[in-house]
Amino acid sequence: MTDTSKTATLSFDGQSFELPMFTPTAGPEVIDIRKLYGQAGVFTYDPGFTSTASCDSTITYIDGDEGILLHRGYPIDQLASKSHFLEVCYLLLYGELPSSAQLEDFETRVTRHTMIHEQMHNFFRGFRRDAHPMATMVGVVGAMSAFYHDSLDVNDPWQREVASIRLIAKMPTIAAMAYKYSIGQPFVYPRNDLDYAANFLHMCFSVPAETYHVNPIVARAMDRILTLHADHEQNASTSTVRLASSSGANPFACIAAGIACLWGPAHGGANQACLEMLREIGTVDRIPEFIERAKDKNDPFRLMGFGHRVYKNTDPRAKVLKQSADEVLELLGVQDNPLLQVAKELEHVALNDPYFIEKKLFPNVDFYSGIILEAIGFPTSMFTPVFALSRTVGWVSQWKEMIADPQMKIGRPRQLYRGETERNYVDIENR
Ligand code: SDX
Repeated sequence: MTDTSKTATLSFDGQSFELPMFTPTAGPEVIDIRKLYGQAGVFTYDPGFTSTASCDSTITYIDGDEGILLHRGYPIDQLASKSHFLEVCYLLLYGELPSSAQLEDFETRVTRHTMIHEQMHNFFRGFRRDAHPMATMVGVVGAMSAFYHDSLDVNDPWQREVASIRLIAKMPTIAAMAYKYSIGQPFVYPRNDLDYAANFLHMCFSVPAETYHVNPIVARAMDRILTLHADHEQNASTSTVRLASSSGANPFACIAAGIACLWGPAHGGANQACLEMLREIGTVDRIPEFIERAKDKNDPFRLMGFGHRVYKNTDPRAKVLKQSADEVLELLGVQDNPLLQVAKELEHVALNDPYFIEKKLFPNVDFYSGIILEAIGFPTSMFTPVFALSRTVGWVSQWKEMIADPQMKIGRPRQLYRGETERNYVDIENR
């Protein structure tokens, strides 16, 4: 299956191989190497997948040089300012912006799946209270496989649809319960009269002793953070979900694998690590010390919230989050937040430092999100769970796309082997 007569020629050892090419609707052309090993007896080598397209997708497009992020063709800044998270979920899942009736039906379906099986409450009580909420989320989401047996069959489109809605609907409930458990407060049930972001805030911050009113400004900021983290092409956690799903494993187990991958400080864990770094820097006058450490090859320290595998110009999400940080902190009356001052000065210093300019390092999505989340009232341990609950729709959308692809095969990379060649066993008395 190729959509162009164009080919690439690979020549070595006096042989030449013609490889078909694909023409994308946007982005680099692709050389189809699926038959390379069969024809030429060689592998390609790309351990970090820096030059490898792992799939054929229509969901999200990013251009690293231009700082472009499109969801089904719509620019992220337009979605952040004009849409809202559940509408973006619909767009990612089904490919088009919904009509009013479609959106209302979708919101109703999600709302009616926000509770989790009551028996699952016991899972939380098996964890230590000081367990990181990401550890709890990995465990409880994986355990959904043990409860929702009527949506495990990935070959049944209806069960795929039910599993998708359940995951999107229940992730905020699970994240909020992980938070409540970690602070020793009682779980708060979801409420059907609140929208998605407000419901999450209510489940996190309300207590039985008094009525909790969701601040609409905070709810809007929360919704915008969820929108900005929803999907991002074939990042590490999405690729994890795709690879896990390629074996036919059930969606809950595969999403749990995605949560585990996102937790890493080089990926979604960077928002927590970034705020902890800003707190360690503490004051603007200590920034040069940390800039030097980030440049020192003998120091493992990196500026968390800086750099990106794809964006080499600007992360469009960081621009929107920086604006949101200013708005939210001002509206909450904490615009003189010292961490925000350190963050802005750090950004200014780094963007004018030759090292960061040469390495094309600048703030990514994780740089400003933590400042907003802290202003809303979340502890740093809840930053990555918020990222995970947002990214669930991206993982699910990419999973649905892959499972529905008739060309889907189990993911099974090969290797460059440089270990020992065959040798005979030596008895211990002769070693
Ligand atoms: C996310 O993929 C996605 O789309 C992810 C994400 C999503 O939405 O899913 O966008 C979310 O994960 C954003 C990234 C969050 N991570 C961080 O903020 C952690 C700090 N950033 C780095 O760990 C790093 O920049 C990565 C992991 C993000 C990208 O790493 P790459 O592309 O593999 O680049 P690299 O590690 O090879 O670095 C290139 C050079 C190196 O120097 P040299 O070896 O060439 O001399 O830049 C240096 C690195 O040392 N470098 C940094 C740096 N990031 C890279 N130096 C100091 N501070 C940094 N933050």
